[in-house]
Amino acid sequence: MILARRLVSLTAGTLLVALAAAGCAKGSDQSSQTQTVASPAAAVGDVARGKQIFASAKCSSCHGANGVEGGVGPSLKGEKARKNYAQTIDQVQNPQPPMPKLWPDPLNDKDVQDVAAYVQTL
Ligand code: HEC
Repeated sequence: MILARRLVSLTAGTLLVALAAAGCAKGSDQSSQTQTVASPAAAVGDVARGKQIFASAKCSSCHGANGVEGGVGPSLKGEKARKNYAQTIDQVQNPQPPMPKLWPDPLNDKDVQDVAAYVQTL
């Protein structure tokens, strides 16, 4: 007897994803196209610049040259654990005495963001 073997062929279905590519450049003039530059979602300060501000705005006179010695003000070492970036900005914009209010003058918004970013690294 001959045993018929049944071969089951599996048909693999291939899914084709058709991507419509559009964009035939028409015309010969080379007019410059407007480019949209994606800006970062949140403005995060510049740490290096913030370090300079920390010294020039005299934060250092109360918090120490590197922010970690303290003095009139507390050491800001590990400040990140106490205040996050936004809270640090808030602290600088709305300080409690004797910490002076240095915003919006002489420090502008950008300055405050940068110095807060620096403080977050201490
Ligand atoms: C005249 C001294 C003085 C100067 C200048 C000063 N601070 Fe302060 N700072 C203080 C004192 C005092 C406190 C504590 C106030 C409090 O308990 O709320 C403080 C608190 C803080 C805190 C919060 C610390 C905590 O307990 O979490 C931050 C952050 C801070 N200062 C950052 C800065 C930055 C940044 C600058 C410069 C832009 C600055 N300070 C300038 C005296 C000062």
